[in-house]
Amino acid sequence: MSSPASPESLTAEAALAAFGERLRGAVPEIEWPIHARYIADIERLKRQRNAVILAHNYQTPEIYLGVADYVGDSLGLAQEAARTDAEVIVQCGVHFMAETSKILCPDKTVLIPDLEAGCSLAASITAADVALLRERWPDAPVVTYVNTTAEVKAASDICCTSANAVAVVESLGAKRVIFLPDEYLGRWVASQTSVELVLWKGHCEVHERFGADDIRALRAADPAVRVLAHPECPPEVLAEADFVGSTAAMIRDVGVSGARKVAMITECSMSDNVAAAHPGVDFVRPCNLCPHMKRISLPKIRRSLVELRHEVHVAPEVAARARRAVERMLAVARPAARA
Ligand code: 13P
Ligand code: SF4
Repeated sequence: MSSPASPESLTAEAALAAFGERLRGAVPEIEWPIHARYIADIERLKRQRNAVILAHNYQTPEIYLGVADYVGDSLGLAQEAARTDAEVIVQCGVHFMAETSKILCPDKTVLIPDLEAGCSLAASITAADVALLRERWPDAPVVTYVNTTAEVKAASDICCTSANAVAVVESLGAKRVIFLPDEYLGRWVASQTSVELVLWKGHCEVHERFGADDIRALRAADPAVRVLAHPECPPEVLAEADFVGSTAAMIRDVGVSGARKVAMITECSMSDNVAAAHPGVDFVRPCNLCPHMKRISLPKIRRSLVELRHEVHVAPEVAARARRAVERMLAVARPAARA
């Protein structure tokens, strides 16, 4: 077996022949030779390391289509981390996603190719903030979005994602729930349930930039366009959308709605990734880039596998409490009709 430190496997021509086609429909052919060398190395390293690559739907097409073993929304990534037999998990997403994998798999090596891949929602709240909210509303259980640090998860009763937030809130049987930290997701959930929600003013820096005018302009250009929006968008955007759901739910909607023209009001890579599987659908792309998701690249993934960097650690006592909150969410899981 060759050493992981010398990732020379296939010639450029052989790599292109073996892996170029994976990128068809999403990456210009002129770029295939560059990506194919990395894909070849990463595939070989995955085998050598007994590693699996879990990639979020916002990863670039050369990652999403080229090297990912599993792609999905935050809930799907957590479910896959919980069930994988691999010894190493390379999390192609942002830091809270890698922490969630580590919380669920304390004995595995969890790697993130760039440690700086953060999230404005995760940065918006601390465990001390959660403690203060509990003092103010002692009878209200705390639901935290998975877009939070391990410490915040550990301070909460149960986690949720955008795919199961309503079901998680309703599963508690409480009149009032503290819902953290995404205000707009919280307002969306509040519109779907009679449970009273105490909200926090956290926002996604990517989705908060969309406005209702963006949707109206799309409809003015083509009234037949089907508008799908992520629930991290402001309420006035969601009010104008035809469908609101997690990234995985938006992808499913493209498959079942029969719409010929679709606008995904979310991160830019979503349309690129989904368009490859739906050549008959015209994607209008009024998107915003997530600078954190875009820190992950094929060269960084290769380096991550060669050097086993950057390993994600969560203090065992924090992980144990956070695991309770995440596993409690996984028991509620994904409500098929709403996700
Ligand atoms: P999903 O769980 O819907 O994939 O969302 C994660 C996220 O970070 C959206 O900005
Ligand atoms: Fe965080 Fe928003 Fe980026 Fe998702 S898109 S990782 S919520 S900053």
